[in-house]
Amino acid sequence: MSKIKYAVVGTGGRIPMFIDPIAETYHENAQIVGFCDPSPTRMKWHLDRLVKAYDYADIPCYGIDDFDKMLVEQQPDVVIVCTPDYLHRDYIVKSMEHGCDVITEKPLTIDAESCAIIMEAVERTGRHLRTAFNYRWQPGASKVRELIGSGTIGKVIHVDFEYMLNTIHGADYYRRWHSDKSCSGGLFIHKATHHFDLINWWLDAIPESVYALGELAFYGKENAIARGQEAWTKYDRYTGVEAAKKDPFALRMDEDETLKQLYYNAEADSGYIRDKNVFRDGITIEDTMSALIKYRTGVVANYSLNSYCPREGFVVTINGDGGRIEYEERSASHIITGDKEIRMEANHKRSLHLKVQKLFGEPYEVPIEEGPGGHGGGDPLLQEQMFAKKPTKDELGRNAAHEQGAASILVGVAANQSMESKLPVNLNDLWSLSPEAKHLHELA
Ligand SMILES: NC(=O)c1ccc[n+]([C@@H]2O[C@H](COP(=O)([O-])OP(=O)(O)OC[C@H]3O[C@@H](n4cnc5c(N)ncnc54)[C@H](O)[C@@H]3O)[C@@H](O)[C@H]2O)c1
Repeated sequence: MSKIKYAVVGTGGRIPMFIDPIAETYHENAQIVGFCDPSPTRMKWHLDRLVKAYDYADIPCYGIDDFDKMLVEQQPDVVIVCTPDYLHRDYIVKSMEHGCDVITEKPLTIDAESCAIIMEAVERTGRHLRTAFNYRWQPGASKVRELIGSGTIGKVIHVDFEYMLNTIHGADYYRRWHSDKSCSGGLFIHKATHHFDLINWWLDAIPESVYALGELAFYGKENAIARGQEAWTKYDRYTGVEAAKKDPFALRMDEDETLKQLYYNAEADSGYIRDKNVFRDGITIEDTMSALIKYRTGVVANYSLNSYCPREGFVVTINGDGGRIEYEERSASHIITGDKEIRMEANHKRSLHLKVQKLFGEPYEVPIEEGPGGHGGGDPLLQEQMFAKKPTKDELGRNAAHEQGAASILVGVAANQSMESKLPVNLNDLWSLSPEAKHLHELA
């Protein structure tokens, strides 16, 4: 049987999630036929890695002006889109118009107009578009879905979801393209798309309206100066800057081999600077966000995201008419890039706690078994679904196509609009997701 051919656009820090399992585990069924990126250095770095680790054959590399040429020459079956978020739309649409299926990293896209363009292209071309929501595959998140689905706490009425990004992982969004809202949509899109998707999926419900507030209250020059930390605003970037030696927010790319080779040594290729000062002018995303989400099923979710916390993880409480679920994930302090997680402090350990209390009952802990691989063993499960010849049956409905991808980003788009207008936003005014449907599983 011939192999399924995958072409890749955007070969930065995240792409090993896709190319490594193809090269290592699924090579009998899948083949990488092309890389496309503005940086020859980054493409070569990944290629060298695959050759060294898996004895992989040469992969043709294309600059961004030759994306179409790659599609014509290599005739991929599937294109994997792993570029900065604002570029997903055009690569998804072009690939589908060429007759390819698409796997896109989250978020699907960053605004309502792009969402409509993508939905129309799926309809028109009949191609399949998968949104890679890896959080759904984490054992803890899956267990919450199982508990709710089996009626353990009755009918869900209310959700409280607090997400904390710390001064290591959280700060990383303010150093590069994510800090420009026109590139990432802000963290209501870029980061919260994971969380909104989890809530949608846990509740099996379609979001209806959103009211949100948010601001840039910690990062940025003005905020640092107001706190008396003007010294940390005095340089544009961190690497090689003597004055930044004692700055706890500094990322020194010359001290880590992956960061150095993947980004620092590649700066001349495209001008991508990955270690900009988080206390500079020009940051256009928020760091402090709250949203109230109403679902078509009547459930209300209360969500917050802060990106300057001393620890990382989330706490979610779900109240039903038969009891309550409390779930907490504490994450290790890290940034993920290239072929590894860079751990910044050894003393921040990952831990999970899942507790159920039925009405009038005693609380009890529900054990969670994590597996090997990224995100508590969730990443390998998603990789198996994407690349295996015969993937394991998806009992919990964890695979998400284009409409479920849209259901998550539209919450973020609505939150962005609501922050501006100071009014609630109805999602149907942005893009009408099957107006008659109430449950997420009714969407593709
Ligand atoms: N699911 C997750 O947990 C997770 C984690 C990290 C990133 N992501 C997603 O993965 C995607 C990539 O993020 P990353 O961390 O690898 O970012 P990155 O900055 O490390 O890599 C982005 C790559 O895109 C390339 N690029 C820039 N402009 C381009 C263009 N015009 N055409 C083609 N390529 C271009 C860059 O050169 C770079 O190699 C984003 O959509 C992000 O949201 C998802």
